[in-house]
Amino acid sequence: MKGIIILLLLTFVFTNAHAVISGSPHDVNVMRESTGELQTCAMCHTPHSNIEKPPLWNRDQPSQNYMVYESPSFDMYTGQVLQAPSTYCMTCHNGVSSTLVNYPGAGSTAGPDYDLGNNDPVFSNFTNMGVNLKNNHPVSFIYNPSIDDDDNGFPEPKADGPGGRKAIVGKKGIYPLYGNRQDHFECSTCHDVHDTVEYPGKEITDGKSSGKQIFFLRADNSGSGMCIDCHTNR
Ligand code: HEC
Ligand code: HEC
Ligand code: HEC
Ligand code: HEC
Repeated sequence: MKGIIILLLLTFVFTNAHAVISGSPHDVNVMRESTGELQTCAMCHTPHSNIEKPPLWNRDQPSQNYMVYESPSFDMYTGQVLQAPSTYCMTCHNGVSSTLVNYPGAGSTAGPDYDLGNNDPVFSNFTNMGVNLKNNHPVSFIYNPSIDDDDNGFPEPKADGPGGRKAIVGKKGIYPLYGNRQDHFECSTCHDVHDTVEYPGKEITDGKSSGKQIFFLRADNSGSGMCIDCHTNR
């Protein structure tokens, strides 16, 4: 009996200590109080996609023109345009409506619960970023510490990311790089869209972030610790 109680207690502690999409702000399906079948992953992925975009991307909208960060001291700038997977984030966070490619269920009948409208009410003002990203930290560039002229002290990438992929490894977190050569710096370099990273002070209540240092960050940014992981000389 005692053993069972301890086991139950451990299961409880474990399931609560490990955050995932389910119950997080990215459990979009639940936020919409869907009347249909709840499908957490289907809001972003489909097992049978008809647009060939990895990783089985399931959300679509007409292509957008994004304005990206520019600055005379942005040394890794290459005149880039926003690219995947950052464009995937923006499919929802740009305030333009988007639909699913393959809806859950037999025959894939369109269901408005899975679509997101223009400035959809599930987004608070601060998470609707629009298409002008000039006021945001640069993304979609090739991470190459050797061409940084301002001596930020950016670490050399190491094969320590998820699945042995290349990543920037800091004191507080691991920041994966993307693309075929695993050298693209994207939104997901700083944000864990699936919310699997845990650190003290991070809490979710009723599908909304609560507590401190939230926002799906890859590391606790208190004291700007996450910034300093990369900008080690600042
Ligand atoms: C809010 C959108 C969203 C939801 C919901 C979501 N994903 Fe993802 N997923 C992404 C994005 C964006 C990427 C690519 C960028 C990255 O890896 O961070 C990705 C990448 C992946 C990958 C490839 C990289 C990796 O992490 O292994 C897998 C596998 C995956 N998702 C599985 C799932 C499963 C299973 C679920 C449901 C539990 C799910 N995702 C829910 C957005 C989402
Ligand atoms: C260099 C790291 C970094 C990159 C790259 C980054 N973010 Fe963030 N993001 C943060 C931090 C830190 C916060 C916490 C709040 C803050 O400081 O504004 C945040 C906050 C947010 C928020 C919450 C609302 C807000 O504006 O504060 C959203 C939504 C968001 N990021 C989406 C994105 C998207 C989409 C991209 C890619 C276009 C991206 N982020 C790229 C670090 C980053
Ligand atoms: C299927 C649509 C969808 C996609 C795709 C998506 N998001 Fe979100 N995201 C949401 C919704 C809905 C919320 C909750 C909005 C709110 O509360 O205002 C959210 C919230 C957030 C927040 C704030 C979380 C908090 O703590 O309050 C961040 C940061 C964020 N998203 C970043 C990203 C990044 C980075 C990507 C791509 C890797 C991404 N999102 C892809 C729908 C999406
Ligand atoms: C995962 C690594 C990483 C993290 C985390 C990170 N940065 Fe950056 N940041 C970079 C890289 C790489 C550049 C591009 C530098 C260049 O090419 O000059 C950059 C660019 C910048 C720039 C523009 C520099 C310029 O010359 O115009 C500023 C400002 C900046 N980061 C501030 C921050 C702040 C504040 C945070 C924390 C919220 C942060 N960064 C987190 C890697 C990171």
